[in-house]
Amino acid sequence: MKSDTVTLSDRLVFLLAVNTGLVTGGKPDNRFLEFYRGRSSSSLYCAIVGNVVVPGGFASNDVTPALTTDPVWADLASTIRAQGTLPGIQLATTWEGYVGARKFLTGEANKFIPLARCMVRSMDSDSMAAVLDSFDLASNMAIRHGFGHIQIHAAHGYLLSLLVDHRINCAANSALDRLGLLAERLRHEGVETSIRISLRTGDSDFDSSGSEVFQDTISKLPFDFVDISSGFYNIDKRLIYPSRPDIITHRIQESVALALRHPYRSFILSGRAMSQDWASIPSNMHAGICRDLIANPRFLQEPHDGCRNHNKCHYYSRGGSHLICARWPEAQLRQLGKRASATNKAD
Ligand SMILES: Cc1cc2nc3c(=O)[nH]c(=O)nc-3n(C[C@H](O)[C@H](O)[C@H](O)COP(=O)(O)O)c2cc1C
Repeated sequence: MKSDTVTLSDRLVFLLAVNTGLVTGGKPDNRFLEFYRGRSSSSLYCAIVGNVVVPGGFASNDVTPALTTDPVWADLASTIRAQGTLPGIQLATTWEGYVGARKFLTGEANKFIPLARCMVRSMDSDSMAAVLDSFDLASNMAIRHGFGHIQIHAAHGYLLSLLVDHRINCAANSALDRLGLLAERLRHEGVETSIRISLRTGDSDFDSSGSEVFQDTISKLPFDFVDISSGFYNIDKRLIYPSRPDIITHRIQESVALALRHPYRSFILSGRAMSQDWASIPSNMHAGICRDLIANPRFLQEPHDGCRNHNKCHYYSRGGSHLICARWPEAQLRQLGKRASATNKAD
């Protein structure tokens, strides 16, 4: 551990998006609220509630929450804010028939991009505009619920990551223009914004050409932050949640290079962010943390005591129905198990 909270004092700290699966009937339930209450504090700048499906959109799995006018969303935002953290929300959609890969490395890396191109080609301009409309609508709804940071999920091979990439969508300019307008409008309304992208997909042929141009195009949009992730879910998940030292090093280097190319844009750095040497990270980069805060809600107060790579949190890949961590106390795991089986019986 090279860094500590002192070195990070001039950077903002974000809890990154995590699809917890702690929902009942597509709505955040009490376990969901407790997850965010326990991790929010005055040490955490913003908690980005993960992977929330926009109205009319498609979920990435059966336990992905969907944004509605239900007051539970306002309860969630106020729960986070009451602890001293800015409530953020990540808005997302996949498409009809989307199935997320269970395997980390699908072995079919070269099949996804051609399928994605085909799927995007089958959409006419009205259906693309309707997708962008749903992000406008969802942003308004989230603001009314009290969220102060809106994140557009354009990473991991979900629909927007395909629509904004010229290498996949020949009409990418219209999607980029719409997102630019949305970011400007939200800024005007005093709401903070970010866009999440994947540095690379994991398909080495595809990534070998145009990746920097893509990253630069996104970084020129008027979002307050670019949240830098990597990997497409249905190509190589190891890039999304990096654990191997070489993958982490490469992701950090590529992220830093992007931030250096855009000194006037702010970025969120992730991939074991707290283990990096922050003294050598450009000042326009802020820290995004996920697994360390999943493992230990008090990680920011106890920065030596985070994730230990048990990999149990990858519940979807492991066939589970909600987030767990091998580090959580037995009693909590038993409680989650009971709630899950009670919910299943109710179904
Ligand atoms: C269980 C789990 C669920 C995740 N869900 C999401 C998600 O819904 N949206 C997203 O953009 N990233 C998601 N991620 C990726 C994280 O936001 C983060 O980028 C990644 O774990 C790397 O950060 P870390 O090294 O601090 O864990 C998830 C990660 C984990 C471990």
